[in-house]
Amino acid sequence: MQVNNINLINFRNYENLSLDFSPNINMIIGQNGQGKTNIVEAVHFLSFAKSFRTNKDKEVINFEGNTSYIKSIVTNEADENKIDIKISKDSKKAINVDNIPISKISDLMGIINVVVFSPEDTKIVSDSPIYRRNFMDKEISQIRPVYYNLLLDYNKTLNNKNTLLKSQNIDMIMLDIYDEQLADIMEKIITYRDTFIKTISEIAKETHYIISSKKENLIIEYKSNLKSSIKSDILSELKDARADDIRHTVSTKGIHKDDIMLKIGDIDIRKYGSQGQKKTATISLKLSEIELIHNMKKEYPIVILDDIFSELDITRRMMLIEKLYNIQTFITTTEKIDINRDIKYFEVKDRNVY
Ligand SMILES: Nc1ncnc2c1ncn2[C@@H]1O[C@H](COP(=O)(O)OP(=O)(O)OP(=O)(O)O)[C@@H](O)[C@H]1O
Ligand SMILES: [Mg+2]
Repeated sequence: MQVNNINLINFRNYENLSLDFSPNINMIIGQNGQGKTNIVEAVHFLSFAKSFRTNKDKEVINFEGNTSYIKSIVTNEADENKIDIKISKDSKKAINVDNIPISKISDLMGIINVVVFSPEDTKIVSDSPIYRRNFMDKEISQIRPVYYNLLLDYNKTLNNKNTLLKSQNIDMIMLDIYDEQLADIMEKIITYRDTFIKTISEIAKETHYIISSKKENLIIEYKSNLKSSIKSDILSELKDARADDIRHTVSTKGIHKDDIMLKIGDIDIRKYGSQGQKKTATISLKLSEIELIHNMKKEYPIVILDDIFSELDITRRMMLIEKLYNIQTFITTTEKIDINRDIKYFEVKDRNVY
């Protein structure tokens, strides 16, 4: 998979920028605040129709403009596609694939897959469960776009249920209907999550073992908030939680409370891991994503290393570069880094790229 070229109009600090990318390593060099991440953020938009650093699309519109455009030609094994994304201040985001408007984001997902490594990643290992759920959700959506639609349905129904729980006279029949719908969606989501964690844990275990110089066994387990993945059982758990839901005026049970357990041997690294162990576990997880996508799609995703490459020690750098052979890679960095590879350099300065 690769992004052949990109044209950014009124996107972040770029008024009109066109770039042709290398299918190998693209190194984007520039001082802080020049617009390096802005470029890779646009690449990320092509796979998820959103940024990896904000949920607010409109933030990417140039301060002086009203509408941003990202236009691009991408290729995967099967095809070459033209992807055009338009983000406006006062209308909905519009996405065209080969000049045809798409109605669901899930129709865009999977044309190209992108894996981003950023300094924020360590939060997956050391911060609150929401970061682990987001990691899971993003990765499963990439390989199974229908999962993304399930999540949208779940969140919509959960919001409806929560609104109902906050009302004065709760309509119990409606509450039953929502629980029934939620149980139905949860059965599917839990199955996807369970399969995903089983697969990724095997790959990550192997990677972690190698990066830790054969010293550590990484164990990853899915910790569902529900005891069962069968709809009728889920429904009875929801019924049991009803009194709590009403008391707290919010849904207390569900996959929105799931977590992932990360252990080295018997030790919970989310709580007790050293900085080094957390860093290694994070890289193992991200590298596993690349392998997982390759296993599922028989093609490697595009990889973005935003601000992390220069932070790595030489062993991890070499290890990473080894893994990224034949994968289109974007590296942002403040200093030019010499690697023994074919690299296309881009220098970002004063809203221009040279
Ligand atoms: N919507 C916007 N319109 C215009 N400029 C913007 C917009 N959003 C961000 N910027 C500008 O983009 C610049 C930041 O770009 P970016 O985050 O890509 O920097 P960077 O080169 O990655 O820096 P660092 O090395 O610190 O990570 C800032 O100067 C910021 O003011
Ligand atoms: Mg940056």
